[in-house]
Amino acid sequence: MAEYGNETGRLAPPRHIAIIMDGNGRWATKRGLPRTAGHKAGAETFRKIATYCKDIGVKYLTVYAFSTENWKRSETEVSAIMALLKKYLLEAVDTMERDHIRLHFFGDMTPIAPELRALARETDEITEHLSRDDFQANVCLNYGGRDEILRAARRFAADCAAGQRRPGDLDEAAFSGYLDSAGIPDPELVIRPSGEQRLSNFLLWQSAYAEFYYTDTLWPDFNEAELDKAIAAYRGRDRRFGGVK
Ligand code: IPE
Ligand code: IPE
Ligand code: MG
Repeated sequence: MAEYGNETGRLAPPRHIAIIMDGNGRWATKRGLPRTAGHKAGAETFRKIATYCKDIGVKYLTVYAFSTENWKRSETEVSAIMALLKKYLLEAVDTMERDHIRLHFFGDMTPIAPELRALARETDEITEHLSRDDFQANVCLNYGGRDEILRAARRFAADCAAGQRRPGDLDEAAFSGYLDSAGIPDPELVIRPSGEQRLSNFLLWQSAYAEFYYTDTLWPDFNEAELDKAIAAYRGRDRRFGGVK
C-alpha cells in the first residue's frame, strides 16, 4: 500500500476520483455464476474502494452504478441491482454518521422505486448534518451525462421563464450550478476497469479535462493496489489545460 497523507503534503491523491464500475457481468460469467453474483461482488468492491479513498484523503468519489441505458437489461438483473442498492443504503443510514461518509446521488430519481427514493432522501438528510470537509461518495443512479445536461437546461429555461434568470447571464459556472454535481469540483481522474475504453454517457460535462485511466481488471477484482496504480499514472500526466508549459 502506498503512503498518502495530506498532513505531509506528500503524494497527495486527486481531490475527486470518478469510477465507471464495469465488468461485473463478465466476472460472474467467467466463474459460471449468474450476472447478479457479479453485481454483488462489485458492491463489495465499492465498499472497499470507498473506504480506501477516504483513508488516503480523496475528498470525492463518484461512481457509476446504473445508467439511463441500463434499463435495457433483463428485469431480473435490474431488480437485483436495485436490491443491492437498497441493501447498501440501509447499511449507510446506520453507519455514515459514525464513519463520516457523506452520500449524494446523481441522476434522475423519478423512475426509481419509492422505497429506494425514500432511503436516498434519508441519506441526503444525514449528509446535511455531516461536515462539508467529510469524505463524500456520489452514486450515479439512473444517470446519463446527456440526461443530466438536459435536466439542467430545462431548469435554467424554467428560471428564465419565471424571470429569475436571463439567457445572457449563463456562463459555465452558472450552468454547472444546475447540474447534479453542483458545488462539487470536477474529477481530476476518471477510471474505467474491464477493458472498455469509452465514457458510456458518464460525466460528459464534468470530465472535460479529466485524466482517463483504463485497466483490463474487472471491477469485482479491482483493489487498493489497482487504485494506487491509477493514481500513480495520473501523477505522471502532464496536465496543460490547453496552455503551453
Ligand atoms: C457494470 O457491470 C455494472 C452495471 C452496468 C450496472 P456490467 O454489468 O456492465 O458488466 P459487464 O460489462 O457485462 O461485464
Ligand atoms: C456503464 O457500463 C454503466 C455503468 C457501469 C453503470 P455499461 O456496461 O452499461 O456500458 P457499455 O454498455 O459497455 O457501454
Ligand atoms: Mg458493462
